[in-house]
Amino acid sequence: MSQLKKDFLWGGALSNVQAEGGYLEDGKGLNVYDTLVVTPEPGIAPMFCDTAVATDHYHHYKEDIDLMAEMGFKAYRFSVVWSRIHPLGDEEQPNLAGLDYYEDMIDYLLEKGIEPVVSLVHFDMPDHLLREYNGFLNKQVIEFFARHVESIVERFKGKVKYYITYNEINLAPYMPDLVAGVYKPDDMSQEELFSQLTINVQIAHARAVDVIKRIDPQAQVGGMIGHAPFYPLTCQSQDIIAADFKNKMHNYLPFDIMTSGKLPEYFIHFMKQRDIVIDFNEQEQAMIASSAQKLDYLSFSYYRSSVQGSYDDIDDLIALENAILFDKRGLKNPYYPSNEWGWQIDSEGLRYSLIDFYHRYHKPLFIVENGIGIDEQLKDGKVIDDERIAYYQKHITSIKRAVLHDGVDLMGYLAWSPIDFLSSHKEIRKRYGFVYVNRDFKDLLDLKRYRKKSFYWYQKVIQTHSEDL
Ligand code: BG6
Repeated sequence: MSQLKKDFLWGGALSNVQAEGGYLEDGKGLNVYDTLVVTPEPGIAPMFCDTAVATDHYHHYKEDIDLMAEMGFKAYRFSVVWSRIHPLGDEEQPNLAGLDYYEDMIDYLLEKGIEPVVSLVHFDMPDHLLREYNGFLNKQVIEFFARHVESIVERFKGKVKYYITYNEINLAPYMPDLVAGVYKPDDMSQEELFSQLTINVQIAHARAVDVIKRIDPQAQVGGMIGHAPFYPLTCQSQDIIAADFKNKMHNYLPFDIMTSGKLPEYFIHFMKQRDIVIDFNEQEQAMIASSAQKLDYLSFSYYRSSVQGSYDDIDDLIALENAILFDKRGLKNPYYPSNEWGWQIDSEGLRYSLIDFYHRYHKPLFIVENGIGIDEQLKDGKVIDDERIAYYQKHITSIKRAVLHDGVDLMGYLAWSPIDFLSSHKEIRKRYGFVYVNRDFKDLLDLKRYRKKSFYWYQKVIQTHSEDL
């Protein structure tokens, strides 16, 4: 059997706001992840942690990178926290201590033979930009972001080969506060916010592509979405139409814009039918068109698949589509088990996503997050996480099928995550790491790092280039 390519980027990924802590150190400002009062996941009793220390990656980063090197990582994706570089967000000059910190991290990664993959915004809009400007809903903030990207690329030029412009850009209209630093204005409908924010974050993405390619033309840049394919609830045509609509608006729309450089017809039609007029000038349209030519790859996170059904009791077609777009019913697929948080485990859904994206966009793909959250306890210094190993075994088998059988061009696979961190809902109970960090939801304990059973398993996978799963 042939193999994945030789330079396949095996590794892992982390979002720094969720792991760093050190939240006011060395000039850092507060960001939305620090300040937002998060809503717990449905059916889950909240046990929020504050972000002041998180899993203290800020002070343990060398030790954490040593552990990644021990697993044999070829690549590591992390995010440069915006409010560490521009504490308020609207300053002209960057905070040099912040840039120094990440440059040291990059140098250390390179010393260990690990390729840094840098995300430019990941749940870290400076809090001041949300409160004073309403985040990416305000075009001025796009310019502040471009300035922030400029400071980063100027400093890391020649050291960072891979950039990701915007983490889970498609989720901006669904979780506007965390993902885009935006509160919905009272005089805007959900559909208007969906439309304008979709455009604004695309302009932010395009500005980042432009800045990166201007300053460091050798660097490769990719767009990124949070992906969960929607399957029809049944094989009745109304459910198929519902799933098709949801997949377009939720998953394809950002990649369609990024790769074609223009708004797809179905989105223009969506706005026209609702009399939505967006603010999108010629210069911005040209920026989006030119960024499409410069985009090197497409990346995405994958944890689960989802289900979309129609509504029998809604006759009006526009009302029906709006309900589908913002559906919160959490419909379940009868064929797959779930983790404690109700996330259904469907490894062949990852294969399907790879096939679908590759043959739709013809661009190299990069899986930049995949993993499972589990509530775990340390016993005698050990965590026996067989459930995580089983999850990864299945998912890596599926990506191999997509590459070796289905012909997908896949650059790499980054597991989520090397080290425990706080979930997007600020929970430590939902752990993802190959390495356990000793803290609980209220006590910091000693923050010591322990290799879980999966650590050794993933090390072997990388060593054998996934021959031994
Ligand atoms: C992705 C995010 O949505 O999923 C990560 O990019 C996040 O930041 C991950 O941690 C898993 O989600 P959660 O809610 O379990 O943390």
